[in-house]
Amino acid sequence: MDTTLTILGIESSCDDTGAAVVRHVPGQPPEILSNVVFGQADLHAAYGGVVPEIAARAHVEKLDLAIERALAAAGLGPRDLDGVAVTAGPGLIGGVMAGVMCAKGFAAALGLPIIGVNHLAGHALTPRLTDGLAFPYLMLLVSGGHCQFLRVTAADRFTRLGGTIDDAPGEAFDKIAKALSLPQPGGPEVERAAARGNDVITLPRPLLDRDGCDMSFSGLKTAVLRARDAALVDGTLPASTRDDICASFQAAVADILVAKSRRALDLMPEATAFAVAGGVAANGAIRAGLSDLCAERGIASTAPPLALCTDNAAMIAWAGIERLRLGQTDDMSLAARPRWPLDTDAAPMLGSGRKGAKA
Ligand code: KG4
Ligand code: ZN
Repeated sequence: MDTTLTILGIESSCDDTGAAVVRHVPGQPPEILSNVVFGQADLHAAYGGVVPEIAARAHVEKLDLAIERALAAAGLGPRDLDGVAVTAGPGLIGGVMAGVMCAKGFAAALGLPIIGVNHLAGHALTPRLTDGLAFPYLMLLVSGGHCQFLRVTAADRFTRLGGTIDDAPGEAFDKIAKALSLPQPGGPEVERAAARGNDVITLPRPLLDRDGCDMSFSGLKTAVLRARDAALVDGTLPASTRDDICASFQAAVADILVAKSRRALDLMPEATAFAVAGGVAANGAIRAGLSDLCAERGIASTAPPLALCTDNAAMIAWAGIERLRLGQTDDMSLAARPRWPLDTDAAPMLGSGRKGAKA
């Protein structure tokens, strides 16, 4: 299909309700006409994490409004669309179902094709939306529920080169924020505290002695908790020590990601570029470490702008356009899937993405 495509994207797999319109004229860079995201942080704040039932209900309440706003901001009506792309997994099942049902209703009413998108493919294809990256490229997808290196050779061909064997880094950032009484989501809070502190606390860099590019963050998290307990003064943690812990933790995560990225690049010498995406890719220290590595290796590096690193519907609309260009669409039998590995040939990782729900 080589005509102009204008696609509505819908995202509701975790705690962000998103709707966006992306247009692609063949031969030109894609254009994000609108990108609406309603976060739910305030709804989950009291619970120290995302509560699936609350998330699903909030998606149901906000999806219509998000779509209405996305169309209005794009200056378009429903009849100007060529299709509806929706996250069909992996994610919190109630939220994914809310999005899929909404997309089905919309597509059926307007007679539009519906395209089910893997949320991870949305993240992994974002560098093509933002930077026009050509295949093949190496992708580090690093978010609240996932951490994996992917060889991306086509819009529907992803090979997993390695990944976390336990926690995802975003999950570790969130748990550490909670342990240090910082608000959720933890990543940006830990980064802010780290900027005030210094990397002076010795923390482990697990699995660096092991070949390949598998990673582990659970032992690092435990070491941080021990460092916190050892630093308590009369049962409270001095703010300066908390900031030092954050700086030291962030430095350890960056070191692990950089060291393993070096190995992943060794495994994919044909890569034309190295891209990083997912919520944790918003972290300045991690972005800087990875871009230094790419400069050292003489390979192009890209990291989407922050708003397109975290969950959003523009990446889903774009992944939908990529699928449509390959002639791939779904129908009313499209199912919402809580788990949906990108590389179906890869052996499941032991304990990988324990939460399994976030992506
Ligand atoms: O991709 P994303 O928006 O959602 C999914 O996990 O699907 O990623 C969210 C994760 C959260 O764990 C959040 O704490 C983390 O990304 N994150 C960060 C930063 N911003 C968001 N982690 C470290 N530094 C940041 N600046
Ligand atoms: Zn995500």
